[in-house]
Amino acid sequence: MMREEWEIESVPATAQVARVFSPSNIALAKYWGKRDTNLNLPTNGSISATLADYGSFTTVSFDSSYSKDRLILNGTEQVGGKLEKVLLVLNEVRALVGIKKAALVQSRNNFPTGAGLASSASGLSAVTFAAAHALGVASNVTKLSEIARKGSGSACRSFWGGYVEWAKGNNPDGSDSIGAQVVNEQHWPLDVLLLLVNQAEKHQPSTGGMEITRKTSPYFSAWIQAAEESLAPIGQAILKRDFLALADAAEVNCLRFHTSAMAANPPVLYWQGETLTLIHKIKQLRAQGLNAFFTIDAGPNVVVFCDPAHTAAVRDELAALPGITILRTKVGAGSRLL
Ligand code: PMV
Repeated sequence: MMREEWEIESVPATAQVARVFSPSNIALAKYWGKRDTNLNLPTNGSISATLADYGSFTTVSFDSSYSKDRLILNGTEQVGGKLEKVLLVLNEVRALVGIKKAALVQSRNNFPTGAGLASSASGLSAVTFAAAHALGVASNVTKLSEIARKGSGSACRSFWGGYVEWAKGNNPDGSDSIGAQVVNEQHWPLDVLLLLVNQAEKHQPSTGGMEITRKTSPYFSAWIQAAEESLAPIGQAILKRDFLALADAAEVNCLRFHTSAMAANPPVLYWQGETLTLIHKIKQLRAQGLNAFFTIDAGPNVVVFCDPAHTAAVRDELAALPGITILRTKVGAGSRLL
């Protein structure tokens, strides 16, 4: 049987197996806050853009010769938090078919892991997508979105390309807290630059950061209200391809999320000095007429969305700054079989 370069161990010929690529997605209207920490149910809805080229290459195999579930991520056997999230989604997918076979998950990210670029979104959607294909239960993508959400909230948005909304939902079991495509990638193929200022794993994972913010930030309830109010303008700007409206609404949404987190005790502060330098730089470029705006997830790295007509000029300006690595991609397709 073929062996992909991210597969450290060969897969037995008897295994039920699937190999997939699932992309990362970057929220333009952020999810920050859980109303149910077990099911990963959010306090607010969110809207993201799917990245064309950055994500997780993942093989999931089920075989009766395996004695336990294992996760090999970026070449290293995992124990602890990352394995637990994977077990959660594997158990859900196994329950759909009623089998008990153990699984071997082998996965590699082609961009920094745990650095605030949504590697958990690509990783957990990839495991869900591959496990469901391996077991022949992948036809209902909305069900896969619900399962992936339990592993990592933002993962429920990676199955579709283009622009995707994760509805907050109302059902206590989370069955209506799922992703849905707003428009596909052909509607508005914006370019995306990932500006890496620090590729190390963050000190404060998002789940912990959200909980500290929810419990201690005096601005948390204001954030939730503002987050809900920003969904319609962000959705409308995407539908109308109104770059400047999206730029303003997405930047305000991002800064309100970060300031609510910074106001927590202890503070949840993800930025570095370079992060703030880039915020000013991108605002300055837009004031000069270049269509670019920033957003920042739970980490110091900055993501820039560009009108393709202006990407080269924006990139040249940013490349002149010291200490920044630039990865270029665009808004692209969702999870796919390899
Ligand atoms: O789903 P998580 O636990 O990776 O949290 C994602 C949180 C943000 O990336 C900051 C926002 C978002 O909507 O993706």
